[in-house]
Amino acid sequence: MKLTLKIWRQKGPNDKGQMVTYPIDNIDGDMSFLEMMDVLNNQLIESGDDPIAFDHDCREGICGMCSLYINGEAHGPDRGVTTCQLHMRKFSDGETIYIEPWRAKAFPVIKDLVVDRSSFDRIMASGGFVSVNTSGNTVDANAIPVPKADADNAFEAATCIGCGACVASCKNASAMLFVSAKVSQLALLPQGQVEAADRVLNMVKTMDEEGFGNCTNTGACEVECPKGISLENIARMNREYMSAMVK
Ligand code: SF4
Ligand code: FES
Repeated sequence: MKLTLKIWRQKGPNDKGQMVTYPIDNIDGDMSFLEMMDVLNNQLIESGDDPIAFDHDCREGICGMCSLYINGEAHGPDRGVTTCQLHMRKFSDGETIYIEPWRAKAFPVIKDLVVDRSSFDRIMASGGFVSVNTSGNTVDANAIPVPKADADNAFEAATCIGCGACVASCKNASAMLFVSAKVSQLALLPQGQVEAADRVLNMVKTMDEEGFGNCTNTGACEVECPKGISLENIARMNREYMSAMVK
């Protein structure tokens, strides 16, 4: 395949940045999107140019690092996959592909296609955990009965990989889908009950302080989420928040 890539280049957080055009040839449909980026970067390095900075780690849909906005869609045109799982066969020979970083105030660009998502880490640090006594007398989690439906819903919420596509695809740059998945996975289990009220209040407070926008129920986040995290988690988090407020 022969393609024209239009890629966001930005030297640093304070650089204005611009779209730069790169023609590329001999791209195989079985390559992943990131392998195609590797080919381009090898060419740039060989010609003495600065390679394009982009995030990646596991390259198998687990870590949530690969955060690219491709042709106006978070993680590109395929559904239920991350950028690293996207194949070049989803594009046509001769196509022009636009590649941009996540765009959100709470995700400032560090360089080129790399954004700072430490705001997600701070939200998690404010409540996305269960405090456990590790004295040696800890009850094994499997010894505590959990209704099957709750276990299934908690597991589904726990599949959120923290990629940030929900924020990038939301016109308000809201982080509600991410935060609600993290609140839900613990709120649904007995182990998460003890700190449930503090957790939801603290995580929502931190989310707001980090500059994420409000949810207006447009549902773009659910459509673009590579893990199919449901909007039902937002409804559950709102219920958790209301009940925590009146406690
Ligand atoms: S809710 Fe989905 S889109 Fe948002 S961070 Fe989690 S996996 Fe990514
Ligand atoms: S590189 Fe880990 S999810 Fe894409």
